[in-house]
Amino acid sequence: MSRSIAIIGGTGPAGTGLALRWARAGETVIIGSRDSARAEQTAEMIRQRVGANAQVSGMENSAACAASDLLVLTVPFEGQAALLKQLKPAIRAGSTLIDATVPLAASVGGRASRTLGVWQGSAAQQTAELVPKGASVVAAFQNVSADVLNGNLDDDVDCDVIVCSDDPNATQMAMELAVKIPRIRAIDGGKLENARIIEQITALLIGLNIRHKGHGGIRITGLPDAAYKSLTAQ
Ligand SMILES: NC(=O)c1ccc[n+]([C@@H]2O[C@H](COP(=O)([O-])OP(=O)(O)OC[C@H]3O[C@@H](n4cnc5c(N)ncnc54)[C@H](OP(=O)(O)O)[C@@H]3O)[C@@H](O)[C@H]2O)c1
Repeated sequence: MSRSIAIIGGTGPAGTGLALRWARAGETVIIGSRDSARAEQTAEMIRQRVGANAQVSGMENSAACAASDLLVLTVPFEGQAALLKQLKPAIRAGSTLIDATVPLAASVGGRASRTLGVWQGSAAQQTAELVPKGASVVAAFQNVSADVLNGNLDDDVDCDVIVCSDDPNATQMAMELAVKIPRIRAIDGGKLENARIIEQITALLIGLNIRHKGHGGIRITGLPDAAYKSLTAQ
């Protein structure tokens, strides 16, 4: 069986945007949702946009976890912990979970340009406490605009993805997935604890986007070529 990518919370803009790009790159994608009918609707929309060859299906979140050992989490911070507790029995041993969650203050009625303090240090570190033993957590994609991902699929995505994990194999897997999206460069950002910094950058980007009416991303300059993984330099 070929590898599939299960996107938990894949019906929202962040998960759908990543799914569109990966489906276009020929990846097999499972859209996860709390509601299987909603997941199937999103999968159908993606097939319509990407074309009949797109390998996309929709499932309830726990079925999606059971169907893949490569998971991407794109849910609002306020739902993250409860959802992971519910999904824990369905997450397969040895799974890699890529977390894009940002603990925006909007989760508790505050501003989207501010973040909440998370006891564990970051949303991704909270996730690491909640997945079954043996599952690896990677933090990535927090700084990529969903508006850009969901935009014209012929337009490349002008953003670097900084990937943080305590498991080097999981980092590699997330970097490979990131560079399936044309023009994204993936950079190994070190340990999972660095996710707390990356998550903060999203709040800054949201503030900049509001101020300047744009869809800003990030680019890291000045590192040796070998530090940047991209579609063309792999
Ligand atoms: N939007 C962006 O540009 C962007 C960029 C980078 C990272 N992020 C981060 O990625 C995550 C998702 O962003 P988004 O804009 O796609 O969010 P969203 O639309 O608010 O939520 C995504 C999906 O999560 C599910 N969900 C909502 N509340 C939930 C809850 N309480 N428990 C379980 N599932 C719930 C919903 O799917 P079902 O109702 O179908 O289950 C929803 O469609 C957030 O943490 C965000 O900070 C967003």
